[in-house]
Amino acid sequence: MKFKYQCVDCGYTFESDEIVYTCPKCEGTEKEGEFPKGYLRVLLDEEYLKGLQKKDHVSIYDFFPYTIPTPEVYPVGGTPIMKPERLNKKLGLTGVFCKMDTFLPSGSFKDRASQLIVGQAIAHGVNKIALASTGNAGAAMSCAGAAYGLDIILFVPETAPINKLMQSVLYGATVVPVKGTYDDAFLLSIEYTKHFGGINRNTAYNPMTIEGKKSVSIELFEQLGRKTPDVVYVPTGDGCIISGVYKGFFDLWKAGLISRVPCIVCCQSEKSNAISQAFKTGEYKNIEASTRADSISVDQPASGRMAVSFLKEFGGYAIEVSEKEILDAQMDLVRTGVFAEPASSAAWAGLVKDRDNLVKSFGADASVCVLLTGTGFKDMAVFDGRVNMPASIENSKEAVIKRFS
Ligand SMILES: Cc1ncc(COP(=O)(O)O)c(C=O)c1O
Repeated sequence: MKFKYQCVDCGYTFESDEIVYTCPKCEGTEKEGEFPKGYLRVLLDEEYLKGLQKKDHVSIYDFFPYTIPTPEVYPVGGTPIMKPERLNKKLGLTGVFCKMDTFLPSGSFKDRASQLIVGQAIAHGVNKIALASTGNAGAAMSCAGAAYGLDIILFVPETAPINKLMQSVLYGATVVPVKGTYDDAFLLSIEYTKHFGGINRNTAYNPMTIEGKKSVSIELFEQLGRKTPDVVYVPTGDGCIISGVYKGFFDLWKAGLISRVPCIVCCQSEKSNAISQAFKTGEYKNIEASTRADSISVDQPASGRMAVSFLKEFGGYAIEVSEKEILDAQMDLVRTGVFAEPASSAAWAGLVKDRDNLVKSFGADASVCVLLTGTGFKDMAVFDGRVNMPASIENSKEAVIKRFS
């Protein structure tokens, strides 16, 4: 399929058969202390997109710039939607559902990007992929690498949750813990690919990550009977997932398959709120993030400018939630049978906080998607001190009677 790249900042649009990362005119032109500039979006051929109207059903692969060989090797997509009835009742709503990307092969939404990066690597005959990650993107890429036999070089902050690091080690990636933040790991991974080659899969830096992530919107469209939800709540750190969600709806809209892009709500922690602040103030200032929800803890959001431009163009908005609200949301979800990691739970916390505004704008019966991006198993340490493990009983009938009397 034909596609072009377009710079989010200067609009420069170009084609290339090479692997492309950033805008040659804008990369590095941001002011000191501001979000990086020069990230690219992929534009699919509009005639091709319009041709998709003839199909009774579209698949995520119809919208991908690269072919995915043997997708069954690493089956990404087709995640269920789950309706938490009891939580709907508690909020006085009827149409809220969770998109369960916790069910993807490595347990997080990041499999969506990694799938397309595999397609890119195979198309270009490259078998080495390097990246930085707070944990989930690394686990996803490592899982994909294990499935397809690709070498994965992964830079992670040494403080990343052990479960995520362990996953990547187990999948066989070369894991390089960094004594620094995610943003430090990001720059080191770029150094790595400059020196040693391979594809760099850094979130947003490689525009195919956003393209891969858009698959969730296309999937939702088919799952909901060729409709979009009214509102989608998206947990946000770097802004790549939310940009991907927008891009999927944008492509559907360009294809003439939907008449409007739904309202998307960017859910951030108060302690990692760079994109929300940029949206509200118009200033793209980096921050020092410190949320316990590690996957959304980002100082310099790589996709920040793209996320803000999508939010502004399509009438989305941003919500900030406290640490307590995130952890309470995680508990509310798990007590309803939905096990999500803290970052993911920030989307539910966003919905809870935004409830009255949602009802005012869309009604209590609005169709609302809360995107659950990572399984709770990813970070069990977050429950330390929050949950008491019950004491063991003796192996006797008397002990049972005593325990429940
Ligand atoms: C589980 C989970 N949720 C949300 C996010 C936030 O995505 P983004 O950084 O693209 O905004 C991430 C990113 O690592 C994640 O792993």
